[in-house]
Amino acid sequence: MKGIILAGGTGSRLYPITQAVCKQLMPIYDKPMIYYPLSTLILSGIREIAIITTPHDKTAFKNLLKDGSQLGCSFEYIEQKEPEGIAQAFVLTKDFIGLDSVCLILGDNIFYGGSIHELTKKCHQLDGGIIFSYKVKDPQRYGVVEVDNNGLAISIEEKPTKPKSKSAVAGLYFYDNEVVKIAKNVQKSTRGEYEITDINSYYLNQKKLKVIEMEKNTTWLDTGTIDSLFFAYNFIKNIEQRNSQKIGCIEEAAFEMGYIDETELTKLAKPLMKSGYGQYLLDLI
Ligand code: DAU
Repeated sequence: MKGIILAGGTGSRLYPITQAVCKQLMPIYDKPMIYYPLSTLILSGIREIAIITTPHDKTAFKNLLKDGSQLGCSFEYIEQKEPEGIAQAFVLTKDFIGLDSVCLILGDNIFYGGSIHELTKKCHQLDGGIIFSYKVKDPQRYGVVEVDNNGLAISIEEKPTKPKSKSAVAGLYFYDNEVVKIAKNVQKSTRGEYEITDINSYYLNQKKLKVIEMEKNTTWLDTGTIDSLFFAYNFIKNIEQRNSQKIGCIEEAAFEMGYIDETELTKLAKPLMKSGYGQYLLDLI
């Protein structure tokens, strides 16, 4: 299974901050935002990852994450010239995906706790699509899904004014290889974007869209607005300070998955000693 992190876009809901700074490189407490979705992919057993960025920010992401081999992974960087919609991710990464199935995660989504990574590890073999839902107070801000007793989606709408349920669709999607063909045929919506919800609707109509409702002890955060960004910052800070474990630590994730050994982890820790991040990595050994 291939992985994609969608880390482009204008970040206009965070203007003026993101007029000069890339949103997905901004700090969520002690690490860049992209570390969180990247660690989710690594902990899901996905090692071949394409990172979609704006042409302008590509170099900064490359400087930070390199080719991925230091984490026992492989990273490719793909430009999205204009933010024309989430569904465009599969058109841009067609060659990268090849004949494989694929997992897409949004660069501003954080998943933590419960058995989320145990669940995602089981999504590698699939016929159709698998999405994750989470009960929220404000479903109209998200894609909203209705589910039958067998866990299949029966309706899905993007940011509806009158949501049919409280179940928001999280920014984590698993699809079989057909997604490449489906994405190519998606038309722009009235708001001018290639919508991920249209891809999900296609699978829904085929009765092939499975929905996994995340457990109550799982936290899902979308950090796209200034309040949600600061909420996430404080959430991570509180948890990390309380139990002295890091969330979204990509080096720890790679070590835990057996992608790197103690020698490689030590090498990664050395340049990070001054901030305390390096010591945390050494303490894992
Ligand atoms: O967070 C979950 C929600 O994400 C889902 O419930 C919705 O169904 C889905 O459409 C999406 O809604 P958002 O309004 O939150 O999407 P946003 O435009 O903020 O984009 C999410 C991330 O993807 C963000 O980090 C920017 C990036 N992006 C977005 C677009 C449209 C790109 O890199 N390129 C794009 O063209």
